[in-house]
Amino acid sequence: MTINSENPMTLVEDEETLSVPSTPDIVVIDNVSKRFVLRKDNSLKERLVTFGRSGRRHREIFWALQNVSTTIQAGHTVALIGHNGSGKSTLLKVIGGILDPTSGQVSRRGRIAALLELGAGFHPDLTGRENVFLNASIMGLSRQETEDQFEDILSFSGIGEFIDTQVKFYSSGMYVRLAFAVAVHTNPDLLLVDEVLAVGDEAFQRKCLDKIRSFPGGRPHDHPRDPLPRTGH
Ligand SMILES: Nc1ncnc2c1ncn2[C@@H]1O[C@H](COP(=O)(O)OP(=O)(O)OP(=O)(O)O)[C@@H](O)[C@H]1O
Ligand SMILES: [Mg+2]
Repeated sequence: MTINSENPMTLVEDEETLSVPSTPDIVVIDNVSKRFVLRKDNSLKERLVTFGRSGRRHREIFWALQNVSTTIQAGHTVALIGHNGSGKSTLLKVIGGILDPTSGQVSRRGRIAALLELGAGFHPDLTGRENVFLNASIMGLSRQETEDQFEDILSFSGIGEFIDTQVKFYSSGMYVRLAFAVAVHTNPDLLLVDEVLAVGDEAFQRKCLDKIRSFPGGRPHDHPRDPLPRTGH
């Protein structure tokens, strides 16, 4: 997949899910490009010298993604591999609908759980327990469904008695443990994970990857023939 000729990114499929039989597409990325405008402000000294005349401010256009097209099938696990700045996080945000593509279209189906930035989706003043209920309800689970899952979430996270502490006092690893535990227990159709997992210790990372692998391969979707809803331009 060519994204940026100087800094390419590739999409690699997990060997274990390569053998999963053909399933419906869950994500279709069609010719997506994403442009950022970089503003380079002059230094304070330069501004003083030029009496704040704005003409000298630089604007640079930067394409983080260029003409990306790919599809991801239900029940498959894929990884984005590339150097720093190659556009991996940008593509994940475009897939998750957090960023709009500048051109091209992204279609996706089902419920999405996204673990893209540390602490995102958690309210710092609420306890771990309260955040679990808040997050699960955003993911569409009823209070009863969350209560039924709560013990599993707590035990998967390994947070223990800190579950009743406000999350602003959590360490980075504790945030990720709880966020991942909630995300996988809400039964998402699509789980997007950026490098947040890197802050967990090795044993927890392994547990998460095992959990991802244990997802049912290509769970049949309720309406497999529905056209994928499209977003973008
Ligand atoms: N909001 C933004 N405004 C301007 N430029 C941005 C913005 N977000 C990302 N970029 C630029 O887009 C490029 C791709 O960034 P991105 O974060 O997607 O890379 P990455 O592959 O995730 O890198 P890393 O391995 O360091 O996480 C970078 O050059 C970055 O500076
Ligand atoms: Mg990144």
